[in-house]
Amino acid sequence: MKGIVLAGGRGTRLYPLTLVTNKHLLPVYNKPMVYYPISVLMLAGIREIAIVTNPEDIDQFRRLFGNGKELGLDITYIPQNAPRGLADAVYQVREYVGREKFMVILGDNIFYGHNLPKILQEAVYHVENNGGAVNFAYWVRDPERFGVVEFDDEGEPVRLVEKPRYPRSNWAVVGLYIYDETAFERIEKIEPSARGEYEITSLNEMYLEENKLSFYRLGRGFVWFDAGTYDAFLEASNFVATIEDRAGLMIACLEEIAYLNGWIDEKTLIRRAKLFKGTEYSTYLKNIVSEYVESLK
Ligand code: TTP
Repeated sequence: MKGIVLAGGRGTRLYPLTLVTNKHLLPVYNKPMVYYPISVLMLAGIREIAIVTNPEDIDQFRRLFGNGKELGLDITYIPQNAPRGLADAVYQVREYVGREKFMVILGDNIFYGHNLPKILQEAVYHVENNGGAVNFAYWVRDPERFGVVEFDDEGEPVRLVEKPRYPRSNWAVVGLYIYDETAFERIEKIEPSARGEYEITSLNEMYLEENKLSFYRLGRGFVWFDAGTYDAFLEASNFVATIEDRAGLMIACLEEIAYLNGWIDEKTLIRRAKLFKGTEYSTYLKNIVSEYVESLK
């Protein structure tokens, strides 16, 4: 399965922060925002990742990650020539994905919670074996800001509505999706919405109409942010700082995940620690190596 990070868009809700800097390169506490969605793909076991972004921003992402090898990844950069919506962004990866199944994550979405890797891997397994698509739902206070899903009494999804004025459920559809290879032919049938965008909700609706859309609910033990507004952006940083300080463990330390997945070795960890010399991030990486060396004694 391949992984896709959508990191284009204009980020107008964060202006003037995003006037010259791509939103996904802004800091969330101690890392660029894009680290967080990439960590989710890695936790799902995905190593082949494409970052879709505005043509003028590709160089900066490339400077950050290169070809991904230092993180045990294979990273490709794909331009979206204009921010025509999420379904349009997904359409840009059709050649890259080919006949594979793929997971899509929005570059400004941050997930944290117990058992996240297990749920992700279960969902990946489901689509790999049955095809169709998977969406994830999360209970929110303000559903009118999101795509909303209504479930029937059996817990089956019956309706998807994009930013409803009067939401009939509090279940928001989060920015994480898994699709089979039929996604691209479906996207070709989508008409732009009233706001002029090719909506990802339209794509999900097509799967739903054919009974090929499964939902996983992220329970109350999960935290989900869409860091696209001033307040959510600040909250995300505060949240990461609090958790990391309490537990002494990092959220979305990509080298750590790569190492635990067996994708990079201690030498690479040390090289990365040297690159970030003098920071807590560097110390954290060195501690991972020394804990490993200790365990061998
Ligand atoms: P949005 O938050 O809907 O849009 P945006 O990031 O442009 O922000 P704003 O509404 O403040 O102008 O986008 C959700 C995510 O999808 C975000 O991480 C950017 C990404 N995106 C694309 O990659 N391509 C697109 O065409 C759009 C609209 C968004």
